Amino acid sequence: MKLFLDTASLQEIKEAISWGIIDGVTTNPSLIKKAVIALREVDEQEDIESYIKKILATAGRMCPVSLEVAGLTADEMTEQGILLYEKFDQVAGNVVIKIPVCTINSKGEGGIFDGITAIKNLTEERIPVNSTLIFTPEQALIAAKAGAEYVSPFAGRIDDRIRRQAEMSFEKNDYFPATGIYDEDNNFLTDFGLVSGVDLVSQIAKIFQQYKMECEIIAASIRNPIQAREMAAVGAHISTVPFSVLKAMAQHPGTVDGIDAFTGDLVKEYLGLFSSGV
Ligand code: E4P
Repeated sequence: MKLFLDTASLQEIKEAISWGIIDGVTTNPSLIKKAVIALREVDEQEDIESYIKKILATAGRMCPVSLEVAGLTADEMTEQGILLYEKFDQVAGNVVIKIPVCTINSKGEGGIFDGITAIKNLTEERIPVNSTLIFTPEQALIAAKAGAEYVSPFAGRIDDRIRRQAEMSFEKNDYFPATGIYDEDNNFLTDFGLVSGVDLVSQIAKIFQQYKMECEIIAASIRNPIQAREMAAVGAHISTVPFSVLKAMAQHPGTVDGIDAFTGDLVKEYLGLFSSGV
């Protein structure tokens, strides 16, 4: 299973890449905004273009980096996808264009099939696409049929939607059971027939496997290590995790106790091995 880092922070990318466990990077406009705010605090001069080029160079050739378009129409997204690809893929040959599966916004702008059309157009230009904002298996299916190389189901946001239905209070990184929850009146809660974000990824994995579809599933909107573990178990090809989740994945109180015990038991005879050199 591959692990992507869900960030636009160059510092986080540099650090995580150095550990040798990162296979790709995903960004989105919100993550870019966060990175630009942080960048302005330390360097007023650097422009976003050179910053993105540094991200791409740091990730390197074998590490795909998703960059998202800004438009809502098929023409805008196709043009922007080509522009981003032409401008940036030359840096390290690792650019993937992120296209929302459907771009209708709350004002009714955008179009039902504009995302799908842009995916098809970019695929015809041999530009790899990561179809984003996937909230149902059927959206994943049509994005894959349009040619997307990756689909990004937003698991954590499905869990958020279910908890909001129940008017539960929760922290963003709280664990949500993969098997779903009941509300106070004992009603079992679902979102468009899905019981959790893990259920969303699991159903997409079954459909893609059943029809031998080549599109890879990037489990996105991952909020904690247990969710990342469950994504691996249900067959996500990739999980894209924030830096904080990646750090949490490496830790356990039992490991801390073990380190304390082992370092406490070090005898000078054994330590002597290390002072004499190889
Ligand atoms: C990744 O591709 C997504 O943009 C990201 O995982 C969304 O995560 P969030 O729901 O925590 O914002």
